[in-house]
Amino acid sequence: MTVKIPQRVAVVEVGPRDGLQNEHVTLTTGDKIELVDRLTAAGLPTIEVSAFVSPKWVPQMSDAEGVFAGITRRAGTRYTALVPNLAGLDRARRAGVTDISIFAASSETFSRKNINQPIDKSLATYKGVCDAALAANMRVRGYLSTAFGCPYEGDVAPDTVAGLTSRLLEMGVFEVAVSDTIGIAHPGQVSRVLDAILARVPVSRIALHFHDTRGTALANVLTALPYDVATFDASVGGLGGCPYAPGAAGNLATEDLVYMLNGLGVDTGISLPGLSEASQFIADRLDHPLPSRYAQAVAAATRLRPDA
Ligand code: HMG
Ligand code: MG
Repeated sequence: MTVKIPQRVAVVEVGPRDGLQNEHVTLTTGDKIELVDRLTAAGLPTIEVSAFVSPKWVPQMSDAEGVFAGITRRAGTRYTALVPNLAGLDRARRAGVTDISIFAASSETFSRKNINQPIDKSLATYKGVCDAALAANMRVRGYLSTAFGCPYEGDVAPDTVAGLTSRLLEMGVFEVAVSDTIGIAHPGQVSRVLDAILARVPVSRIALHFHDTRGTALANVLTALPYDVATFDASVGGLGGCPYAPGAAGNLATEDLVYMLNGLGVDTGISLPGLSEASQFIADRLDHPLPSRYAQAVAAATRLRPDA
């Protein structure tokens, strides 16, 4: 049986932001720059570099300006950052950032814990950010967190997710990354949520952002491909989590995703060996092994054949 899937997939690398925001080891700004430059060299089309959020809330991202100042930009790669409010937008603009992401939630408690605002108020804040960013010719992406479940409230209705996705798109974001913040989604649920969303918005405006807490992230991608979803977020080595989502594990690992897509004949434009090098670089600077299964396989093969 042949199942039609996209021939090309855009991978959004979120490791330097979603990954490193949750690490206990504080990396130097220089190491963060080196990681982004290695990811650029591996051919990642979009890299989420940092977040212009309150340094009191997420100290790991407090050097966003320094990271942006140090990276070497390559034509063909977009460098993005999270922005929660107009103060963050101002910082991003001063740092020469052209692509930003706003991040709303599908559940009230998570919204309050993460950005200290109820959903409606946050959407009003984000409308102001969007208007100002679009007027400055910036590109704005939207995240919708807890779309598959909330760590505080449990189930989230697919209709709620679909409605909020539409509202973000009406605000002017070019796509919404429908996000499984706590890695609870499974293929049956991915189908139900996509059915609800795609009844309202075109698939070209949807990306999926999976965390891999329960080991279902790759299966979720495989479920979404026949829907023609062609943008997926991932994090080098499977780094990640969210400081305001207790128990959330790392994102889907970029190498695991690219390995699977390569096997399916789906083009990403990403060099898997280059990605592995970036992954090894960051692994050497952290105090724990990386969750990526592909990275673990590469490490095991290297131990067996060190000269290969
Ligand atoms: P607040 O405390 O309500 O904000 O936080 P405030 O406006 O009252 O300001 C408090 C202080 O922060 C003030 O300083 C402000 O100037 C400062 P003070 O007067 O006390 O010295 N401040 C800022 N400083 C620098 N940059 C800024 C900024 N804004 C205010 N942009 C706020 C509200 C939204 C700022 C805060 O809650 C925040 O920064 N939250 C971000 C939390 C976060 O980054 N979470 C992780 C990212 S989301 C995620 O991981 C999910 C995702 O991956 C998708 C998924 O998996 O679901 C995207
Ligand atoms: Mg995330």
